Amino acid sequence: MHIDIISVLPELLASPFEHSIMKRAQDKGLLTVAVHHLRKWAVNEYGQVDDYQYGGGAGMVMMCEPLVSAITELSANRQFDAIIYVTPDGKTLNQRMANTLSLKENLLIICGHYKGIDERIRQKYVTLEISIGDYVLSGGELAAAVLVDSIGRLLPGVLNDETSALTDSFQDNLLAPPVYTRPVDFEGMKVPEVLMSGNHAKIEEWRYEQALQRTKDRRPDLLTD
Ligand code: ADE
Repeated sequence: MHIDIISVLPELLASPFEHSIMKRAQDKGLLTVAVHHLRKWAVNEYGQVDDYQYGGGAGMVMMCEPLVSAITELSANRQFDAIIYVTPDGKTLNQRMANTLSLKENLLIICGHYKGIDERIRQKYVTLEISIGDYVLSGGELAAAVLVDSIGRLLPGVLNDETSALTDSFQDNLLAPPVYTRPVDFEGMKVPEVLMSGNHAKIEEWRYEQALQRTKDRRPDLLTD
C-alpha cells in the first residue's frame, strides 16, 4: 500500500512511522508513506496556501488552488482508491473502516489546518471524510498519523502471530480480554487459574467470556452495532 499525505506541517509527521510496527511495515516493503508539504504548490512566492474566509470571522481557510495542484500532480502517478480529508466533522473512525481501508492500494490523506479547507475541495475531490473522535485537534496531522497506524498494522504480513490483529479489541465488535504476565502473585492479586491450566479450549472460552463482560460493562453500544 502507498499513502500520500498533504500537510502544511510535515514536521509533525516526520517520525510517527519510523518506529515499531509501522517501521516494520515499511522495512518489509508492505507500506510506503510520502508526506508532501502543501507549500510546494503555494499560489505565490510567499508560500501562501490560505486566505481569509468569506463572510468574515476569525481563522484562515486553506485555498483551493494549492490543493488542486497537489492532488492533480500526485494523481498523475497513482490511481487513488480514496482521497481522504481528516476533519472533526467526518465519519468517526472505527475498526471496520480501518479494515476496509487496509484492502486499498493507494490512499491520499489531506490534513486540514486553521479553519479547514475550502468546501468546494471537499465536494469535488474528497471521497471520504474521517474524524478520529469527538474533539478538536490543532490540525489534521495527528489524526492522519492515527489513521495510517490503524490501517498499516492490518496489512497482510505486517503483524506476526504474537501481535495478530485478530485478538485486538474491536475485531469482533468486542473489547480485548484482560492479560497477565509474571509474577503469578502481584501484591496479593493472583493470575486467574485457568490461564495457567494449559487447557487451550478452556482458556479461549474464559477469554471470550471476559471480553464479552468487559464490552457489556464498558461499551454496550458495540454489541448493538
Ligand atoms: N482535525 C482536527 N480535529 C480532528 C479530529 N478529531 N479528527 C480528524 N481530524 C481532525
